[in-house]
Amino acid sequence: MSIEHPSFGRVDDDRVIIFDTTLRDGEQSPGFSMNLAEKLRMAHALAELGVDVIEAGFPVASPGDFDSVRTIATHVRGPVICGLARTGGRDDIARAAEAVRPAERPRIHHFISTSPLHMKYKLRMEPDTVLELITSGNQAARRYTDDVEWSAEDGSRTEPEFLCRCVEAAIRAGANTINIPDTVGYATPEDMAALFNTLRERVPGAEKVILSAHNHNDLGLAVANTMAALRAGVRQIECTINGIGERAGNAALEEIVMALRTRADVLPFRNGVRTPELLRVSRMLATITGFDVQPNKAIVGRNAFAHESGIHQDGMLKNAATYEIMTPESVGWTKSSLVLGKHSGRAAFRDKLRAMGYGDLGENQLQDAFTRFKDLADRKKVLYDEDIVALVDDEQRDHARIRFVSLDVFAGSRCAAPRRRAPATRSRERAGGVARAETPGAGPVDAAFNAIRALFPHEARLVLFSVGAVTEGTDAQARTTVRLEEGGKLVDGQGADTDTVVSAVRAYVHALNKLLVKRTRSEPEAIPA
Ligand code: KIV
Ligand code: ZN
Repeated sequence: MSIEHPSFGRVDDDRVIIFDTTLRDGEQSPGFSMNLAEKLRMAHALAELGVDVIEAGFPVASPGDFDSVRTIATHVRGPVICGLARTGGRDDIARAAEAVRPAERPRIHHFISTSPLHMKYKLRMEPDTVLELITSGNQAARRYTDDVEWSAEDGSRTEPEFLCRCVEAAIRAGANTINIPDTVGYATPEDMAALFNTLRERVPGAEKVILSAHNHNDLGLAVANTMAALRAGVRQIECTINGIGERAGNAALEEIVMALRTRADVLPFRNGVRTPELLRVSRMLATITGFDVQPNKAIVGRNAFAHESGIHQDGMLKNAATYEIMTPESVGWTKSSLVLGKHSGRAAFRDKLRAMGYGDLGENQLQDAFTRFKDLADRKKVLYDEDIVALVDDEQRDHARIRFVSLDVFAGSRCAAPRRRAPATRSRERAGGVARAETPGAGPVDAAFNAIRALFPHEARLVLFSVGAVTEGTDAQARTTVRLEEGGKLVDGQGADTDTVVSAVRAYVHALNKLLVKRTRSEPEAIPA
């Protein structure tokens, strides 16, 4: 059996559509927001990875979101490009349509809550009103594009009877993908199977549309639920790189794809993902957002293929299949590639950047990045791809309102004594000029952060400070993440440098710049307006 779909043509029963929502649901999680250039780079990487659909953002949320979706729709070729909208929102569907219009294959995805709890308390709407909006919303979306997806938010906690009526209304009004999210990550694999079997048995027309699962990971069941949904007839799965997403995240793309590949005996479904690209895309996301995955994370964690115990190592030497169910190479684990050295010229540097997906750097940015590269090459023996990514990402962040110029810091064991605190000098460019401050602190990082607060007074609270190494060795660059909170709004900043304090200062300044942008941005309301 197969289904005719406007974007994919004939979708055979053994085919799964991989819908990536890293740039929408993933980006919604605290601290994971990305700027336009970062989103575009991720979108190109997702296209190279071979996903079928990229949900590029929520265009009505802000002019910035609109621009990101529009830019991705204009430049990224291959996958369907999708924009999110609220069913019944005043401008949502029109804005989403406008944003995705330049895409080869544009999709509008719109959603409304269908559970009793959400309808009563969040939407304050009667079920009949929700049903009417589902009909009018899908009709409106179909006026813009043939590829329309509708989602029943909190679908897994919706009464089956009402859910069937909603899905039937959506199909009648023109939706060709029906997504049932487990919005709060409450379902079990058995619930998932029952839910989709019910829809397939009871809803007229369900056999002509693609059913889709979108699972959150609050109970750690997102991937298991996705597998259960596939077995119950779902042919689109919604997921994110590294499993990022609201709260505990979404189902992780790399885990689902590798489960499908490794267990084809029980999950016989095809997809177009090029699995050797998985690690590269995972790392790109970690570098952009500043959040590494945990070491034991399946597929892409640094321990995922590490064998510690003697018994395991012995088995591995005799036959890798004793302890490895997939090869590290199949997901992209190879030795870090040695890249450029201090004798490499500007042309080689530019070629390297192009090959790594940074072809869009302007002349000034390229020159600044090259200057920093030369400086780094002087300080660090060996430069890896990861070093270049960290450096260029930092360079792209630097073109903001507050700019870090230089830092001198006095630190050492005697500075830790309470009577003698570490003083640090910090400078910042101000309206073309440079401001300076000299401040003490409990240590060099504290002193440097005090200097930033002296130069740029603000009430934001530091709620997270984390440092990791970009590569191995004591000359590795430190990558720092700083999270600030102001009036309930969270922003994360990232910085990288071989000097940990400089890296921390870059991260703080990056977070402050984001905060300035965030102060001017309002989020969409739950209730369509
Ligand atoms: O989790 C959810 O319900 C969603 C919808 C907007 C699809 O992300
Ligand atoms: Zn979601």
